Amino acid sequence: MASKVVTETCLEDYRYSFRSDILSGKVAFITGGGSGICFTIAEVFMRHGCRTVIVGRNMEKLKKSSETLTKATGVKCFPAQADVRKPLEVIAAVEKCLQEFGRLDIVVNGAAGNFLCPLEDMSFNAFKTIQEIDILGTYNVSKVAFDKYLKDHGGVIIHITALLHLRGTLLQAHVGVAKAGIETLSKHQAVEWGPKGVRVMCVAPGPVEATEGYNRLTMGVSADQIRQIIPIGQIGTRQEMGEICLFLATDMAGQLTGSTIYADGGIWMANGNEREQMQSYKQWRSKL
Ligand code: COA
Repeated sequence: MASKVVTETCLEDYRYSFRSDILSGKVAFITGGGSGICFTIAEVFMRHGCRTVIVGRNMEKLKKSSETLTKATGVKCFPAQADVRKPLEVIAAVEKCLQEFGRLDIVVNGAAGNFLCPLEDMSFNAFKTIQEIDILGTYNVSKVAFDKYLKDHGGVIIHITALLHLRGTLLQAHVGVAKAGIETLSKHQAVEWGPKGVRVMCVAPGPVEATEGYNRLTMGVSADQIRQIIPIGQIGTRQEMGEICLFLATDMAGQLTGSTIYADGGIWMANGNEREQMQSYKQWRSKL
């Protein structure tokens, strides 16, 4: 079933940290770009001169989002419908990108599925569906982009992963397995495609405000409670994720390939009780 149409909005009062023409002349192919983090990645790229193709299953949503993005940035954005699980649809979308813009420099694999489910309640098909969207989808898009353009021109591929597999995150086995697979894939791609001038990186966001994933996965826990378990005390923003991807897409990140940026304020290393434990420790110390 296709996802429902949401109305996305662009960032207000965007302040440039990078040169505004740093991606000028480039083209990015962004799956999942119709909404959420990947919508903002598209926006940040476009604000830096990059034309984009946003890809997803729901053409109505993609059209609305591409219009919003172009209106805010003045840069061309082209919607392309494809289910990343279906190689023929991915091939058609990449071919459309090449027809429209004549090049393809950056791929962002952001299309993903998620829901909370304990292993004991998960159906065979539920587990398989997430592997197909996340791992196979990422593989399909990377392979088609590489075969059709990147192998002859170089470029950058960014996979959006997660923190779930770094610990055995409750209710997230299906996604954790998929994201671990994608991070492993990125290493193989980096080694095999590096000689062709292709860098492959993963970005693993922690909690990012104003996203479907945040609403879906935080289960009603308040923002204040979440901040308590993030070492830097701040929830991530979509703009921050966009700017990390922007950096990775530029020559400034020329030495980066085959690794993952954990963009999470340090949350994966914390177990949620660190602040309480630190408080107890301080109390104990003060009594010595
Ligand atoms: N709990 C348990 N199983 C679930 C589930 C949930 N909340 N949601 C879906 N599934 C199961 C379905 O029951 C089905 O298994 P079954 O055939 O054994 O019943 C299987 O997963 C496939 O689901 P379906 O919705 O038919 O597949 P789809 O390809 O149309 O969509 C998703 C898959 C993951 C995209 C869809 O579930 C979805 O829209 N999720 C929310 C959007 C999303 O994931 N956004 C990213 C936020 S981080």
